[in-house]
Amino acid sequence: MRMNDKYIMERTAPEADSLLPGDILAGLTAARFGRAAEHHAEIGSTNTRARELAMDGAADGTLVIAEMQTAGRGRLTRTWQSPAGAGIYMSLIMRPRIDTERMALLTPAVALGVCRGLSAFCGDVRIKWPNDIVCAGRKLCGMLLEAHAGAGGLEWVVAGIGINAHQRIEDFEGEVQRTAGSIDIVTGGRCSRAAVVRAVLGEIERCVDMLTGGEVGRLMEEYARMSATLGKRVRVIAMDGEYEATAMALLEDGALLVRTDDGCERPVYAGDVSVRGLMGYA
Ligand code: BTN
Repeated sequence: MRMNDKYIMERTAPEADSLLPGDILAGLTAARFGRAAEHHAEIGSTNTRARELAMDGAADGTLVIAEMQTAGRGRLTRTWQSPAGAGIYMSLIMRPRIDTERMALLTPAVALGVCRGLSAFCGDVRIKWPNDIVCAGRKLCGMLLEAHAGAGGLEWVVAGIGINAHQRIEDFEGEVQRTAGSIDIVTGGRCSRAAVVRAVLGEIERCVDMLTGGEVGRLMEEYARMSATLGKRVRVIAMDGEYEATAMALLEDGALLVRTDDGCERPVYAGDVSVRGLMGYA
């Protein structure tokens, strides 16, 4: 397992596991992301709050973070289990200067940043297309990106990020217990959630800046190296049926290009399908 000592040493006792803005700021390397932050002991959904702040003009990089959510939202109208003190529930407001045709690459850019940040703690962490971060076959993190565009193009994006930090398998409810993992399960220790937030914010900023700086080729290469999906056999679960295929590439419109067994290549879009690996969840 590849570990980064700088981060892994930052273990913490439960009483010291603060996510207060000042504790996140101490040691934050990101220049913009997380520099302004709003902390909540309890909230419905950090994404809902971040959307309100974005509408009110909050600056690029503003973070909303909570100890627990009572109405945590996941992709495809799912809920996100958000018990107090166990996970990291945060939403990052971004105002990237980016052409509309590159907008679809924001999700891969954020996913790559989160993946790189978490790999400093957990070693071999991968991106399961489109929005999941997995380690040892279990989901460590899910992301929900919501964007608003006006006449002049993209105005803001809220990247909602839920990271399982201290949960044990038995803490997950229902079906999720079969697929979810946490940083502490992987490392066998107790991570500092503030250190995780700092690592993830630093890497997201780097990856989003790569995208806005026009380094799309490099971004796609790094993404491919950390993908759990590309090159693998997958089951595509669509509204009108399921089929097996091989995941070939991430396209610049964010679609996953798959090749079916009869040789047809087709793009699949995250809003329309679920994609499962054939060897378990990832
Ligand atoms: C998914 O995997 O379905 C996406 C989960 C996203 C969860 C995070 S937790 C912080 C933010 N607030 C929400 O209500 N959802 C996102």
